Amino acid sequence: MPRTGRRKKKLFITFEGIDGCGKTTQAMLVSQLLTSERYQVKLLREPGSTAVAERIRELLLDANTNLTDTTELLLYEAARAELVGREILPALKAEQIVLCDRFYDSTTAYQGYGRKLDLRMVRSLHRVAVGDLKPDLTLLFDIDLKTAFSRLGKNPDRLESQSRAFFKRVRQGFLDIARKNRRRVKVIDATQSVEEIFEEVKRYLARRVDLV
Ligand SMILES: Nc1ncnc2c1ncn2[C@@H]1O[C@H](COP(=O)(O)OP(=O)(O)OP(=O)(O)O)[C@@H](O)[C@H]1O
Ligand SMILES: [Mg+2]
Repeated sequence: MPRTGRRKKKLFITFEGIDGCGKTTQAMLVSQLLTSERYQVKLLREPGSTAVAERIRELLLDANTNLTDTTELLLYEAARAELVGREILPALKAEQIVLCDRFYDSTTAYQGYGRKLDLRMVRSLHRVAVGDLKPDLTLLFDIDLKTAFSRLGKNPDRLESQSRAFFKRVRQGFLDIARKNRRRVKVIDATQSVEEIFEEVKRYLARRVDLV
């Protein structure tokens, strides 16, 4: 292996968990680490990361948009189809490491478990959006609602009971997904410090890439 130039590695890693669990923080640390190890890394976020998907993101995140649960689901899948077709598959083909801040497990957890849409229907739409693409590794940052919302500067006690119940279902949904996909999905206790969490993340990474 020459000391210069980029190392090639086809690897798809996703970062999952409820709002405020630390996905973006850890995804950025992983991106920096792998880049410093000379891997070619593509860091993406969902929904978004392409021109059209960022426009869909605006619609989805705008509190003034009034969507039915089904429309919301379809918009997430539409944004995902764009991301997969235009960014993820080409990057994997070029033997790059793709890091994705949320992916289809978020839709299963939020729209399936959270909004109570039929799980089989939700999974069949993932297939429409992504084909047979599957993450090689999914890091699930598990955390209680109180700690997560305090990090985001939101007071959990002020969240209406409806939304507390919603986020509880989402968290349980993620854990259920992990239980059913033990080889792919690794659960990390996200109440720990950023450094402690990153140490665990690195242990999972080290099984798949060469870290010095
Ligand atoms: N382990 C940690 N301990 C304490 N604070 C943390 C930890 N990890 C991240 N934070 C802080 O908590 C906040 C939320 O973290 P981050 O943005 O990484 O979460 P996220 O999962 O990406 O959230 P969202 O779903 O809203 O995008 C940030 O201010 C971040 O600096
Ligand atoms: Mg984030």
